[in-house]
Amino acid sequence: MKKSLFTKILREKKLMLSPLSGYTDYPYRQILAKFEPPFITTEMVNARAVVEGNQRTVQMLKKVTGSHFNGAQLLGKDPNFMAKAAKIIENMGFDYVDINMGCTVRKVISKGEGVSLMKDEMLACKIVKTVFNAVDIPVTVKLRTGFCQQSINVISLSQKLACSGAAAITIHGRTGEKKFGNPLNIHQMREVASTLSIPVIANGGVFSGIDAQNMLFQIGAAAAMPGRGILGNPWIIPEILCNFSGDIFTFPTLQEKKDICAEHIHNVCEFYGEKFGVLKMRRIVFLYFSSCRYLKSLKSDIHMAETIDNIHALLHKIKEVDGVWIYE
Ligand SMILES: Cc1cc2nc3c(=O)[nH]c(=O)nc-3n(C[C@H](O)[C@H](O)[C@H](O)COP(=O)(O)O)c2cc1C
Repeated sequence: MKKSLFTKILREKKLMLSPLSGYTDYPYRQILAKFEPPFITTEMVNARAVVEGNQRTVQMLKKVTGSHFNGAQLLGKDPNFMAKAAKIIENMGFDYVDINMGCTVRKVISKGEGVSLMKDEMLACKIVKTVFNAVDIPVTVKLRTGFCQQSINVISLSQKLACSGAAAITIHGRTGEKKFGNPLNIHQMREVASTLSIPVIANGGVFSGIDAQNMLFQIGAAAAMPGRGILGNPWIIPEILCNFSGDIFTFPTLQEKKDICAEHIHNVCEFYGEKFGVLKMRRIVFLYFSSCRYLKSLKSDIHMAETIDNIHALLHKIKEVDGVWIYE
């Protein structure tokens, strides 16, 4: 995919979905694709593991077909490994590659990867430059406002990353302390969006079409990126797109939610096998029914589920009574 096309679609559609480790796996990306988002990114994959052809990593990179463009997100700090991995990703047919400079998992930070790269601007730029020189697909970067509150450098770093070849920058508007409760640093995000000529994608706290609209308005960003908002709610894709286009969006019925959830369960169990698939779905199914009464009971019952049939039996117990969804 040419950088100019990537930029055009991003600016037109104004929507990019988050990579979510453990969630935006192949089975869920298949579900997301049905809702026709412009772009779908894999969860983060380790660059070294890509280069070494690690079986599990290759499985994580399985590409989903659909009308969207496919991106893969790389984690790592060695510019040469990152470049080699990006080339492999390009050869696999991915349309763009995203570089993770925002992950706050302790194991990742201790290796100097993820958000740690924000502390080493020279290395961060070298990675982007080396990857940029190695591939023909667009290279994007996802970062935060800074490594921590004491080192907020997103404005200077994003300018340098743009000069190093980044086609777009995603900013999760928080520092690396990993507290979702902390407010977004709107000022820093807006400053970056107004100074960069490449598109800026604004991320953090987008849970609805209105949130996405507000995000664009407040930040002046090219696109909005929902993260946790896509979990159990692929309908957020048409909701946001309708909000932007002015079309009417109709929220899903309970039956529609159950059907897509059932398809997700099927995809997961087909991909990982029933045993692991059911374990995985234990922490996903209830996300589809977040507005359901007695959700706590559903959550605890689902932790006992051992088979697909067990999960289906629980779904059967979610009913609509006088317009309210209830787990009985
Ligand atoms: C479970 C989970 C997994 C995540 N995995 C990744 C990842 O693989 N790569 C990444 O760049 N960010 C990852 N993130 C961060 C999100 O992409 C996003 O930046 C963050 O959740 C803020 O957006 P939100 O407030 O809309 O959720 C993850 C977040 C969560 C909650």
